[in-house]
Amino acid sequence: MHDLIRISEVFSEHHAEILKRLDAAGAKKLGTEYYLLPGPMPASELSLFVRWQMPIHHSWPCSPEKTEHFLDKACYALEQKCAAAGVLQVMVSPLISGSPHPFFKKLATALRQRLMASLLEKKAKIDPEEQNPQDLTLFCLVGKEGLFASIATPRDCGGFYAGGSKYISHNAAHSISRAGAKIAEALHFLRLHHPALPETTHWLELGASPGGMTAELLERGYRVTAVDRAPMDPRISSHPRLSCYAENAAAFFPPRGERYDALLCDMNGPARESFAIVAAKLPYLESGALIIFTLKTHKTGSLDEWLELRRHVQRDATAAGLRSIAHTHLTYNRHEFTLIWRKG
Ligand SMILES: C[S@@+](CC[C@H](N)C(=O)[O-])C[C@H]1O[C@@H](n2cnc3c(N)ncnc32)[C@H](O)[C@@H]1O
Repeated sequence: MHDLIRISEVFSEHHAEILKRLDAAGAKKLGTEYYLLPGPMPASELSLFVRWQMPIHHSWPCSPEKTEHFLDKACYALEQKCAAAGVLQVMVSPLISGSPHPFFKKLATALRQRLMASLLEKKAKIDPEEQNPQDLTLFCLVGKEGLFASIATPRDCGGFYAGGSKYISHNAAHSISRAGAKIAEALHFLRLHHPALPETTHWLELGASPGGMTAELLERGYRVTAVDRAPMDPRISSHPRLSCYAENAAAFFPPRGERYDALLCDMNGPARESFAIVAAKLPYLESGALIIFTLKTHKTGSLDEWLELRRHVQRDATAAGLRSIAHTHLTYNRHEFTLIWRKG
């Protein structure tokens, strides 16, 4: 069985080394970020760099633009493959992420519509935002190299959408900084592993200024206690569900009796120092609280430096009593990773 994996273009200088260390030096490149491995991806700490991974159950290397009746033929083959599988969802994306060629964008949409009509004929259509992460899904990726499909679960592949990216607009009315997209995507990703957090959730946010992430949390109805040396954007600073503390997070201690259901840390600076500040706040978190931590790295690092940093921070987290829920490199992460833990 071949696996198809996705490694962000952010790490393009390191793609060859990552593949070599995954025993996949001969992998075929598809689009800008995908690789068809010669076999299954081995378990490895390099999975930190792999955003999406799906076993290939059907592949049709071809040029869809030049293939007559491509859509009819692709649908027929996929319907045969899926006949007995009982898929509950169909997700199709172009192999080129970001701004794909309009032909492939349209083709992906048409393929999804046709497959939904034939495969989910009598089943209730499920919104990908509401989907159970364990539902069997037909994932397809289509591009100038052909069609690649898998029957798998969102949890196993690493996303609800084929390829793992959820499109998030930076132009939303409440958007304050690009960081907002990171927490929007992280909360979406979290649903692969954990139910959505209730509206009553009170977040402690460290490194909150100017407030891109804060605005996203407030938009979802959450209460936020935001800490940063720098000021918050005046568009949100007097929001009724927001308390702001303009100080060093290391020196911040919550008002007496206040406890938090979740902690978000996007502080820049050395990652282990940021984690030490997080660890000191753990007594103020409820048992079972979630911690979403952006592991900041140096752009010019080597794979080994990044892996070592992640190992150190994970060790610190384990020593502080945190359980790992998931780690990923989100579409909206640059040279940084998103780590998610749970207290207790
Ligand atoms: C990447 S920015 C945060 C962006 C923010 N999450 C957003 O959504 O707009 C990092 C922030 O961490 C803050 N920071 C770093 N170390 C800090 C510390 N020890 N105490 C308070 N703030 C800190 C910086 O002032 C900076 O505003």
